[in-house]
Amino acid sequence: ALPVIEAAARTEGLTLDTERLPYSADHYLRTGETLPDEAFEHLRDDVDGILLGALGDPRVPGNEHARDILLGLRFRLDLYINFRPTRLFHPKLSPLRADRRADGGSTAIDFVIFRENTEGQYLGKGRSESIGTPDEVHVSEEVNTRKGVARIIEAAFAWAAAHGKTRVTMSDKSNAIQFQRIWGRLFQEIGDRYPDIQREHRYVDALALELVREPERFQVIVTTNLYGDILSDLGAGLIGGLGIAASANLHPGRPGLFEPVHGSAPPLVGKGVANPMATVLTGALMLEQLGCAAGAMKLERAVERVVASGPLTPDLGGQGSTAEVARALLDALD
Ligand code: IPM
Ligand code: MN
Repeated sequence: ALPVIEAAARTEGLTLDTERLPYSADHYLRTGETLPDEAFEHLRDDVDGILLGALGDPRVPGNEHARDILLGLRFRLDLYINFRPTRLFHPKLSPLRADRRADGGSTAIDFVIFRENTEGQYLGKGRSESIGTPDEVHVSEEVNTRKGVARIIEAAFAWAAAHGKTRVTMSDKSNAIQFQRIWGRLFQEIGDRYPDIQREHRYVDALALELVREPERFQVIVTTNLYGDILSDLGAGLIGGLGIAASANLHPGRPGLFEPVHGSAPPLVGKGVANPMATVLTGALMLEQLGCAAGAMKLERAVERVVASGPLTPDLGGQGSTAEVARALLDALD
C-alpha cells in the first residue's frame, strides 16, 4: 500500500518522508517490549502522521502488543475521533439483494461512523473477583464523561456541516443502560447549534437492523467506542468487507493515527493475497489530514477504478495477488 500512497502524494507535490518502526508481535516476542516510552514520545513529538499496518498474532493470544500499541496510542495521544467512512465503491461488492445494490446518487451506501475513541468500555476499568470459585465475577465499567461525549458529538455535527450532510444519527443503548443518557442530552444540546442538520436517535440494536435493511439512508453516525467498533465491522460487511474498510484516529490539530479497520488476518500470512485497498484508503485519509486532499481523491478514484476493472484479491471475489492489485492501483492513479 505504501508505494501507492507515496505515488499519489508525489503527483500532488507532496513527498512523504517515511520511517518504519519495528513494533509488532515479532518484536514483542523477541524483546518483551510493546511500545517503549521513547517510541511513544517520538510518535507524539516528531511525526505528522502514523500509518499502522495491522496488529494481532496467534502467538500473542492475550493481544497485549495490540492493546498497548493501538489502544495505547489512541488514549495517550487523546485521539478521540475514530473516523470510519463506509462507502460502497461498486454495487457488486454489496452482499445485499441485487435490487438494493444501488450505485451512485442518493441511494448509494455512503455514511461515516464517528466512533468515540478514548473512553466507554475500552479503558479497562473494572475488577475481577473470586477467580476460579463459583462466585467468580468480572465487572467492566463503561466511562461516559461530559467532555468525552460532547467532543465526539460536536465532531460529528461539525463534519456533517462542513460536508453538506443533512442528518446525524446518534446511537446508544440508553433504554437499558441508564448511565448512557448523557448521550441523548448532549446530542440535543449540541445539535441545537446546528439547526440545518436533522438529528435522529437509534438504539444500537435497532440501528444494526436498519443498517442491513436500509443502509443508504444513513449519512453520519455518532456512537460509543464499543458500538462504533461493532457497527463499523457491520458497515465494512455492507461494502465488501474488511479488505476495503479504512479508518482514522484523530484529534483535530494534532497528528493522527491511520489504521485499516482490519487486523492482521493470520490465515493469509505469506500467501500474498491480503487486500491492500483498506490501507490505501486509510492512506487517503492520512493525505487528507496532511493537507493533500487532491492526493486523497486520487487514491479513492484509483480504488474505485480497480474495484470495477480488477484485478481483485480473493476477499473481493478475484484471484489477484496483493502485488497485482497494488500495481493496478499505481497504474490507475491519474
Ligand atoms: C478496531 C479493532 C480494535 C478495537 C481491537 C484490535 C482492539 O477491532 O480497531 O476496530 O476494538 O478498537
Ligand atoms: Mn474492530
